[in-house]
Amino acid sequence: MSADILKALGLGASNSGTYLGHGEWSATTDAGVLRSVNPATNAPIADVHASSPADYETVVARAQAAFKVWRTMPAPRRGEAVRLCGEALRTHKDALGSLVALEMGKSKPEGDGEVQEMIDIADFAVGQSRMLYGYTMHSERPGHRMYEQWHPIGLVGIISAFNFPVAVWAWNSFLAAICGDICIWKPSNKTPLTAVASMRICNEALAAGGFPDIFFLINDAGTELAQRFVDDARIPLISFTGSTQVGRTVGERVARRMGRSLLELGGNNAIILDESADLKLAIPGIVFGAVGTAGQRCTTTRRLIVHASIYDTVLATLTKAYRQVEGKIGDPTDPANLMGPLNSKAAVDAFLAAIEKAKAAGGTVVTGGTAIDRPGNFVLPAIVTGLENSDAVVQHETFAPILYVMKYTTIDEAIEMQNGVPQGLSSSIFTQNLKVAEQFLSAAGSDCGIANVNIGTSGAEIGGAFGGEKETGGGRESGSDAWKAYMRRQTNTINYSDALPLAQGIKFDL
Ligand code: UN1
Repeated sequence: MSADILKALGLGASNSGTYLGHGEWSATTDAGVLRSVNPATNAPIADVHASSPADYETVVARAQAAFKVWRTMPAPRRGEAVRLCGEALRTHKDALGSLVALEMGKSKPEGDGEVQEMIDIADFAVGQSRMLYGYTMHSERPGHRMYEQWHPIGLVGIISAFNFPVAVWAWNSFLAAICGDICIWKPSNKTPLTAVASMRICNEALAAGGFPDIFFLINDAGTELAQRFVDDARIPLISFTGSTQVGRTVGERVARRMGRSLLELGGNNAIILDESADLKLAIPGIVFGAVGTAGQRCTTTRRLIVHASIYDTVLATLTKAYRQVEGKIGDPTDPANLMGPLNSKAAVDAFLAAIEKAKAAGGTVVTGGTAIDRPGNFVLPAIVTGLENSDAVVQHETFAPILYVMKYTTIDEAIEMQNGVPQGLSSSIFTQNLKVAEQFLSAAGSDCGIANVNIGTSGAEIGGAFGGEKETGGGRESGSDAWKAYMRRQTNTINYSDALPLAQGIKFDL
């Protein structure tokens, strides 16, 4: 099974983790090995060789040379390159979706869904390539014209996480590519195979279409290369997805060299259910949000804030729904399963530690909260009640399926609870009351980058800007005008008169 998936994507038991450009994969074998492990069994899948410091230098030098060519290519033509990547991903969707399921541990439909996000952002980027709009301004001076242009920023470093091992790269790189940038990707060291496969698919499609190199890949067995990458002034933008803890360091280090960073960090997302909530919609929304991807999305629903009048009904219905999920936990490559394993043994330990902390703080584990006794990193998703929003364990993002259910009485109180965490990624409310919905979406409502009504916190479409506030890092990726993050803005003033009037009415007579 796993051998078939690898073969379909041109991967072997041992693979280079460095794409050097010019169709060349590095032959380095002495810079460490990333062993990709199947989280459903903890058996190795295949090896990826890490990049050496010399590989890194080659990649950056070739990326710099590639930028000189790519930045002058008309943007719609760059869009054509991304269109070819999208087409190639369509062809390989089933195999790549299976590899995502195999290596990351998310369910097969979610693995396929992730590849679909890559295809969707490719389509989006193709259209965007004809819409890199800047404003024109009316000059205060006669015979003058002002406008702004968006130019490519240069090299873009992308550091992605294990939980969306391919989509996050595509969000960044397809937009960056149409903007005229060259991308260097350092994937999570837990998911190097999906990265190698994605690079092969896209780079072969680009080469077949006669396009130059625009996507490079490095892999780091430790963190030394990644640190060099973050500190490298030749890379004006670092896009980082991962924990708040690491993201804080990345942001600080990039800022120190006056680079730009785009940060997509932790979430501690809540759903509010008011007394009018339609539970037919809300319950599946909560279960998908809390249990989907085994609680390893940054948009995962971690807190449920329920009006006191419906609290007992919601808890009973939700517990029943969780029992149904328990029967569908297993091999993520089997499409019948709704939930796969956690990605690593360490994640299981963090899950169990959080459950212990919750109990010690006076919480009640209503269902789940234990590891499943079978090979792999499987756990039973947990519902925990009886804690305060301010409790330390509730304030913290544990990257696992734990849902803290809490009660409220007034909507003001519910919104305050929703906002009362350090993170600010996604949020939602289920209500049929227009006034409550609008209050939640108002300036005095949710403080998150994403706020939804009558849908859950996870599963955002690529068309909107994705990202969040506070400790989530403030970055925006994907849709809307997120493309601007990958460009530099230039303001141009042109004088077509025979005089040189100064702005602000200043006289400077010679
Ligand atoms: C992430 O978890 O890093 O909104 C990204 C969602 C997905 C992306 C999540 N479209 O759940």
